Amino acid sequence: MRHLIDPSDLSLEELNEIIDLACDIIADRQKYAEVCKGKKLATLFYEPSTRTRLSFTAAMMELGGNVLGFSDANSSSVSKGETVADTTRVVNNFADIIAMRHPVEGAPLVSALNSSTPVINAGDGSHAHPTQTLTDLLTIKREIGRFENLTVGFCGDLKFGRTVHSLIKALSKFKNINIVLIAPDELKLPSYVKHEVCDKLGLPYEEVKSLEEVIDKLDVLYMTRVQKERFLDEEEYDRVKDCFVLTADKLKNAKPEMRILHPLPRVNEIAVDVDSDPRAAYFRQVENGKFVRMALMLKLLEWADKPEKHKELLREDVVRGEYRCSNPRCISNTEACTESLFRPSADGNGVRCVYCESRPAK
Ligand code: CP
Repeated sequence: MRHLIDPSDLSLEELNEIIDLACDIIADRQKYAEVCKGKKLATLFYEPSTRTRLSFTAAMMELGGNVLGFSDANSSSVSKGETVADTTRVVNNFADIIAMRHPVEGAPLVSALNSSTPVINAGDGSHAHPTQTLTDLLTIKREIGRFENLTVGFCGDLKFGRTVHSLIKALSKFKNINIVLIAPDELKLPSYVKHEVCDKLGLPYEEVKSLEEVIDKLDVLYMTRVQKERFLDEEEYDRVKDCFVLTADKLKNAKPEMRILHPLPRVNEIAVDVDSDPRAAYFRQVENGKFVRMALMLKLLEWADKPEKHKELLREDVVRGEYRCSNPRCISNTEACTESLFRPSADGNGVRCVYCESRPAK
């Protein structure tokens, strides 16, 4: 069985396979109109979504399959206390593949560990959002034409922005990528991404506090919303919510071929006067999300029948039950029946939670 819980679940070859298949779907949509006839996708969305849920739904419909699920956990038996593991075992009776979004970090991994069908992480808390990453990569491919030799600026909420964490992990697989991190101190990239992805995998990065000082060297500007729903302190959110606003005026020094990406929704970090600029790719990016999710579901369903494509979800060096996660939003702290699992840290310094990549509680 194969799942997509984190971008690192896919090899470089598999990433390219999915992007190439998405391009083939775009070129000949009719060819794929019935390839999932008789298949069912379950969309289990415990957290609000417009793009991800609807693009998964549209993707399965365009492949000739059907979709069931919920978009509000309160309308399901989750409201009666059913666990992620039990919900997954139940849904396995009704669907061939599952897409799960959850506010709790690690929930899709728990689902995958209990599933007899492929599970796709459609966003877990502020941890990861691998299908947005596939969307971003397809957009870079279609807009810029290459994955190598790029300077990519990430601007805004790099702390809670799960799409940022996932895209940086995926970009670490490509050659000659430079990362520019544009964020206030309060919203800096988590240290595990900096040290265990960028440093460990040789992805150079610089940290700056203003967009103006770097905009002229960027090939991609990845704007993000400040994630209000992840703040524990509303006053802190108010202090940083308007830290960066991209306007048409600020684009004067940007390269003509630069592209602006944003996972959306936006609040006010991109002024509407930017929308008509040909460099604004964020609404084209949305449609790419449908095509790449079509490609991903086709691949996961194909790989499910191939023993050589099987990959264990947990590494052999996993440590069970010895530590407790320090992250209050980790599934190991929110569902009592979830076993605590840690793995040695990639930087050789201690251990990290398998579900959310946080350090253990002291
Ligand atoms: N980009 C993204 O995940 O959007 P939604 O929250 O609307 O799904």
